[in-house]
Amino acid sequence: MEVFEAIKTRRSIRQHKSEPIDEETLEKILEAARWAPSWANTQCWRFIVVHDSNLKAQVADTLSRRKKPDGTISVNVATKVIMEAPVLIVACAELNRSGCRNGTPTTDKGGYWYMFDTALAIQNLCLAAHALGLGTVIIGDFDAKRVAEILGVPEGFSVVTMTPLGFPAHEGKPPHRKELPEIVFNNRFRA
Ligand SMILES: Cc1cc2nc3c(=O)[nH]c(=O)nc-3n(C[C@H](O)[C@H](O)[C@H](O)COP(=O)(O)O)c2cc1C
Repeated sequence: MEVFEAIKTRRSIRQHKSEPIDEETLEKILEAARWAPSWANTQCWRFIVVHDSNLKAQVADTLSRRKKPDGTISVNVATKVIMEAPVLIVACAELNRSGCRNGTPTTDKGGYWYMFDTALAIQNLCLAAHALGLGTVIIGDFDAKRVAEILGVPEGFSVVTMTPLGFPAHEGKPPHRKELPEIVFNNRFRA
């Protein structure tokens, strides 16, 4: 698939078939993440490929669950996707490396450039998955500390995000995007 087509047609997929993913395809997708750019090529990211249903269930349980004003509970819509998809990829990052020199942040963004680097790698992964006919959904609303405990992520690393990976059960509908004039300015910011 041509890159521009992949960028435009990738959608968050929240329903998967149970069909397994072969090792070669999985490796290609992880390889796309590996070639993402990163701060001074620090490559702070780490990826945990979770196949085990029991671990997936425990991780799914860390996704947000909030009480709405009417008293009902709203569950993160990605929760069931983790159980449906054959694979869950959890992206972690080593702290105090990206955006840092000798462990000290060098910019006004502090030590948070690891979020940026990991996002770039995950976007590569999502696009590669889509080009190979697989679906992803980036998940951010979960308890990262609990996921770290479940998956044995050591001190000095943070769980950043995760995505289920599987064959989509349907095509995603394109959601609204702002028009270019709303987000692109010439020369100076336009409020
Ligand atoms: C940082 C980030 C966090 C997200 N967290 C969640 C999440 O917790 N649950 C979920 O269902 N979707 C999540 N999404 C998916 C977005 O809802 C989705 O990307 C957005 O609605 C645009 O749809 P599209 O991906 O199909 O273009 C997240 C996306 C990003 C980039």
